[in-house]
Amino acid sequence: MEVIIQPGPDDASALAARIVAQRIAQKPHAVLGLATGRTPLGLYEELVRLHREEGLDFDRASSFNLDEYVGLAPGHPASYRAFMEEHLFSKINIPPERAHVPSGRTEDIPSECDAYEKKIAAAGGIDVQVLGIGVEGHIGFNEPTSSLASRTRIKTLTDETRQENAAFFGGAEKVPHHVITMGIGTIMESRTCLLLAFGKKKVEPIARTVEGPITAMVPASILQMHPDAKIILDEEAAAGLSRRDYYKMVYRGKPDWQQY
Ligand code: PGA
Repeated sequence: MEVIIQPGPDDASALAARIVAQRIAQKPHAVLGLATGRTPLGLYEELVRLHREEGLDFDRASSFNLDEYVGLAPGHPASYRAFMEEHLFSKINIPPERAHVPSGRTEDIPSECDAYEKKIAAAGGIDVQVLGIGVEGHIGFNEPTSSLASRTRIKTLTDETRQENAAFFGGAEKVPHHVITMGIGTIMESRTCLLLAFGKKKVEPIARTVEGPITAMVPASILQMHPDAKIILDEEAAAGLSRRDYYKMVYRGKPDWQQY
């Protein structure tokens, strides 16, 4: 794991955007794995700025979102499709037919999940997967005790996750119980994982993810087994890491060719 600690969320988001932009520059048909929630908003703002002001071109790229709620009406403002349209897809030039979000409106969830996996494989696999982390350590909507080998499937949200997302629905009781999410096995096949976490609420899940044992109780801890996982934090989220000074020293000492 590469742990990168930045002073605040803005610096961290800009750094993550540079990593994504570098990958698209190297590989214009790159496949992006995208996340929703509060955490990636700064990253998406910066990608939009790079597109508008510096010519970052998504014309040949494609994307796959991690997850979607089951059963929301089409266009529901809290759906992740609506979130992505609002914050990214409508503001960059990614072709709409290549910006994928699982469909939570399908009659046949297992077939939708299977087809989603096949589409990712047909696109050549995910080059850069953006991840947030839940307060209990979930990635995507893979809640604690999710199989570390899981694939895209239906999951039931914990009460904690429904509370965390209550603001988007105007009350926890309105948050759906079920979601479709890429599995942990799916996420682990991405060539690069960028996990972003900001603020005090993420201190414990980040400490357990980076310095604790690998366990299905903290699904993000599986990233210790990923060959290219970058954990991009602000100072607040990094506060519980015992080797914080070492991670900073490593980052400061990166040679020019490794800079982002
Ligand atoms: P957040 O959610 O970015 O809104 O904190 C993260 C997550 O649940 O993965």
